[in-house]
Amino acid sequence: MIAPLRRFLPFSPPLADAAELSQIESVLKSGWLTRGPKCDDFEAKMASYLGAAESLAVSSCTAALHLALKVLDLGPKQGVIVTPLTFPSTVHAIVYLGATPFLVDIEPKTGNLDPELVRLFLTKECHKGPNGQPIHTKTQIPVKALLPIHYGGFPADLGAFWSLCQEYNLALVEDAAHALGARYDGRLIGDPSLRPADAPPNLVAFSFYATKNLATGEGGLLMGSPSDLIKRARVLSAYGINDARRIYGRDNLRGTWDYDVVDLGFKYNFTDIGAAIGLAQLEKLPRFLAQRQERAAIWTAALESLRDLVELPAESPNTVSAWHLYPLKLHLDRLTLDRDSLSRRLNDLNLGHSVMFRPIHLHTYYQKTLAYPKGSLPRAEDFFARELSLPIAPALDLLDLTAAANLLVLLLKSSARV
Ligand SMILES: Cc1ncc(COP(=O)(O)O)c(C=O)c1O
Repeated sequence: MIAPLRRFLPFSPPLADAAELSQIESVLKSGWLTRGPKCDDFEAKMASYLGAAESLAVSSCTAALHLALKVLDLGPKQGVIVTPLTFPSTVHAIVYLGATPFLVDIEPKTGNLDPELVRLFLTKECHKGPNGQPIHTKTQIPVKALLPIHYGGFPADLGAFWSLCQEYNLALVEDAAHALGARYDGRLIGDPSLRPADAPPNLVAFSFYATKNLATGEGGLLMGSPSDLIKRARVLSAYGINDARRIYGRDNLRGTWDYDVVDLGFKYNFTDIGAAIGLAQLEKLPRFLAQRQERAAIWTAALESLRDLVELPAESPNTVSAWHLYPLKLHLDRLTLDRDSLSRRLNDLNLGHSVMFRPIHLHTYYQKTLAYPKGSLPRAEDFFARELSLPIAPALDLLDLTAAANLLVLLLKSSARV
């Protein structure tokens, strides 16, 4: 009999203190709640953190991805190569624009889109069109962009993706929802210097959803180059109004009532309340990242001796993970429990956890609308069947986590096949 944890250990609780409260108070007292000066400040500080001249704060990463593809003029009868092992937003953003997602399987180790399989897709299933861009031979749909994610905060193979993008004239859109603070070749994901000179456009979308490395409840950020893409996204994020910054504050600050709509935009702006929380969280981000790493190390130390039963996450060379997730993979052939039964046991034992992700093509909507039957993306399906994300949020107490790690070790040992 394994005793449950004394109290439920939540998967990813938020961490905020007096700094966030005082920032929020200043917004509430300012007389202006929605997009305004705090957003400008937050955008400037995020841009500076990432080594960029500009950033655009929006309502979510989903919105940022939608805007990213929109400013690339993606539309119907065009396609994007995308990973199946992701949150639905990544693929929804393509479909919002009437475009076609081409799902290519993952690297089994990291869970990231596999550049070798992307190359195979481009050489075997596409031919080059007049402008050097690939055309999917079966559907005659031109491929415009590559859309990898940095799964769990572990950077995708950007070097390999940039080679492909340059060779095939493809834009690179990165879903960096998990990757704030992650590094590739020493530079932060989102740093515009990661885009090689004269390479096709690059857009990077971050999430500030409640569980993320920097959490404002809801929120997102779009980075990118060339910079005119961000300028256009800014207009589109505020209904398509020509200069939305000028009209913010129109009601009680010295804004102006006058505006002109120059494009069919969306209501995707961030708010000063969100930005206020973000400013406080950004100050703490280096500490949060170190705390995530410290908590990941607790799991690794505890599970190290069980490598015959489980596969532990590890950073690839030249990368630093943002440790958004601690994705454990079960060796199902060596265990008597499958992932779902183990998950139920963990719930009963008060150990909060998650599973990331049910592959896109296994969701009902995409089963109906895309031609990827079960079995067609075996690596993503296998990853999903074996994955459990363990808690590593900075708000979690180290002793509680150590107790949780000991509990998982006992459970795995008692579930080993003999
Ligand atoms: C990989 C990935 N992309 C996009 C999103 C969407 O982020 P948001 O909730 O900010 O729209 C998520 C959310 O969890 C995610 O995990």
